[in-house]
Amino acid sequence: MPEQFIVNPSDSISGITHVPGDKSISHRSLILLSISEGVGNITGLLESDDCLATLEIFKMLGVVINRNKDNSYTVHGKGLYGLLKPKNKLNCGNSGTSMRLLCGLLSAQNFSSELIGDDSLSSRPMERISSPLTLMGANIKTSSKGTSPIIIKPSKKISAIEYKMPIDSAQIKSSIILASLYARDNTSIIENISTRDHTENIINFLGGNIENNNNMVTVNPRNALLSKDIDVPGDISSAMFIIVGCLISKNSKITLKNIGLNKLRIGGLEILKMMGAEIEISNLKNYGPEQVGDINVKSSKLNGIKIPSNYIASAIDEFPIIFIAASLAEGKTILRNAEELRHKESDRLYAMSEGLKKCKIENKLYHDGIDITGGKISGAVIDSFSDHRIAMSFAIAGLVSKGTMTIMNTENVSTSFPDFFKLTKDIGLNIDRRVI
Ligand code: S3P
Repeated sequence: MPEQFIVNPSDSISGITHVPGDKSISHRSLILLSISEGVGNITGLLESDDCLATLEIFKMLGVVINRNKDNSYTVHGKGLYGLLKPKNKLNCGNSGTSMRLLCGLLSAQNFSSELIGDDSLSSRPMERISSPLTLMGANIKTSSKGTSPIIIKPSKKISAIEYKMPIDSAQIKSSIILASLYARDNTSIIENISTRDHTENIINFLGGNIENNNNMVTVNPRNALLSKDIDVPGDISSAMFIIVGCLISKNSKITLKNIGLNKLRIGGLEILKMMGAEIEISNLKNYGPEQVGDINVKSSKLNGIKIPSNYIASAIDEFPIIFIAASLAEGKTILRNAEELRHKESDRLYAMSEGLKKCKIENKLYHDGIDITGGKISGAVIDSFSDHRIAMSFAIAGLVSKGTMTIMNTENVSTSFPDFFKLTKDIGLNIDRRVI
């Protein structure tokens, strides 16, 4: 049902809080434990629409997955060769990660499958996935527009490849990695800039063998992965909304506990620090195959910067909320080489530019970036373009807007951060929700 957020300014926000589990790690935990041998528990799994779409798909592929009383999940792995032919089309909903990673895995199975998604996912580019998989011998077809539905048929053989990534994308890399688990020889993937390595970390944690030398990721196929328990850290991409909310509000102080701090995910934090944000990390520790820590944030005076291009991949999901920080910073923030933002759940450069214009924030759009001049943000009625991160970004902007911020079509917030409304209200956001 269509839903809106109505946000009015608050004096300050404060508290010590957790955010839900990391979306990328939740997807991968479900996928990799499903194809491991034995039984593994996942604690802290993100129960969002996107991750639940992955979970339902593995149930359709014959994997038994139970939710326990303590909210953990038990996955009864089927091994690399134990998945079953699904009776129906596999619906990935809004989730690009589900669709792209599953293309790799399903290309190597001895049964046919069809992947579908919602309107937004059905317009996102999938040739970037089908083309390397075809080079590996997969029998995979997108629509004539290069989008889903995607039809996958069994292929004679999946062969190893050496692949130079044309785009910085962890989803493409992970899709190739999943297929290459079924090849006889080593596959090498050469990245221009390293992207998030959760797939590699979890595979190695489960007894696989993936190396990374100077941006070359080499997959040494193994006969089996062995199930282990996985704890999912808090999602840095969700934490970023609270962090920016705290930075732009007066007299505010927040601690976010147990957040995943993989070095390939913290570009957003680094960019905010370059802008002058007072952010400190404490209690840094290893957490299974990942690292976690607490993030301590205080209200800060922010300055506009030219965002270094080598930080884009590790901050890729954080730009909508970084643009809100830039709107309240002194001076101009400049971003280029970020055309990928046009291919997310919405065209995020366009969606943010339109929303900021309505809030009377001066900005100029480029094909691969944006210039934003900081100023005073006015309340406005904002189109979220049904994109969770656009909706949450403008809700946070409402903390300091002159007048009410109304955000339309916020239902999709549940794809990544189902507790956003409650959690932000608890720390002091003046937020209401209206179902129309
Ligand atoms: C993701 C990778 C990124 C990111 C997405 C999650 C992942 O996409 O935007 O939200 O879990 O691998 P790309 O690989 O397309 O950059």
